[in-house]
Amino acid sequence: MTHHSLGPAPSGAGHFSSPALAEPPRPGSGLPLHLDRRHLLGLEGLDRAEVLALLEAAEGYRGRLARARAGEPGGGLPFDDLAGVTVLLGFFEDSTRTRVSFELAARYLGATVTTLTTAGSAVSKGETLYDTVQNVRAMGVDVVVVRHVASGAPYFLARHLDVSVVNAGDGRHEHPTQGLLDLMTLRDAWQGRFEGRRLALIGDIAHSRVARSAIFGLRALGASVTIAGPRTLLPAGVEALGCTVAATVEEAMEGADAVMALRIQRERMDSGLLPTLGEFSRVWGLDPERVRLLARDAVVLHPGPINRGIEVAPEVADSERSVILDQVGNGVALRCAVLARCAAARRAARAGGAAA
Ligand code: CP
Repeated sequence: MTHHSLGPAPSGAGHFSSPALAEPPRPGSGLPLHLDRRHLLGLEGLDRAEVLALLEAAEGYRGRLARARAGEPGGGLPFDDLAGVTVLLGFFEDSTRTRVSFELAARYLGATVTTLTTAGSAVSKGETLYDTVQNVRAMGVDVVVVRHVASGAPYFLARHLDVSVVNAGDGRHEHPTQGLLDLMTLRDAWQGRFEGRRLALIGDIAHSRVARSAIFGLRALGASVTIAGPRTLLPAGVEALGCTVAATVEEAMEGADAVMALRIQRERMDSGLLPTLGEFSRVWGLDPERVRLLARDAVVLHPGPINRGIEVAPEVADSERSVILDQVGNGVALRCAVLARCAAARRAARAGGAAA
């Protein structure tokens, strides 16, 4: 696959450090990028109130979407929340769930939506990410949703271009909308209470942007996280994020209020990190026996795509405890909330600029 040349990523991106917090304030907004609501670049640095506001907004959209689909009075689809807003879905790395749900969300809110992928765009001819987005910006794009193999790519765009940027997954750095939809799903399972709850995160932590966003989000809401996985797939310094490292999957899962299996990311993995997938499955996979170690009413999550029989046994993925498809369903409402928040902040910033 052809990848963009990108330019410098934020220092530390892709490691378990704090690149978002190291970003200088952007001229004009006076805010560090991670606090500028025109963008959603990561969950790192967001406080409890900010995270809860996004979850509340997503819940509001979930209700509105359900009522609209049921044909109840009060507004059919599309809504007009994003009327006049143009959204680019720049998916320069493969995706099913994130891409489709962002597209549905943007269309449900009445935005004009266009999609770019590596294949079929001038990226395959060597155009840089900066030039690609600058060109679509010149056509009037307001919000860029970007998935990219390079950690830090969304920061790069937000820093250099006058567009709202939503991170749809950057390398091994963050996947903030996945983190938020995971929180939304856990909030349902945990009856709205995060304090005192514990999630076990199992598997390939080192390559997982999902793990980072989940840890940042859960910590902001007062829940704890235990991680477990092969030593070769645990990043150095992960404890600094405030999670506990367990020696075995059983230790991590014993009494946990939820477990999330992470996908083995073969595309990001150097050879030799895992002996065999069969051994991974035997030592770290979620099977019915291990699931019985969880707390009563605990749920099973997976961000997808699932490698069935490797990270999670099919009978667990399809069991009553599994909320994997709830995660996917919640993604649409959650992404409605994120797009609406970024577009509203962009409108406000522009109105302020015009008034000044
Ligand atoms: N969870 C997730 O990001 O899935 P996709 O890669 O299919 O978007």
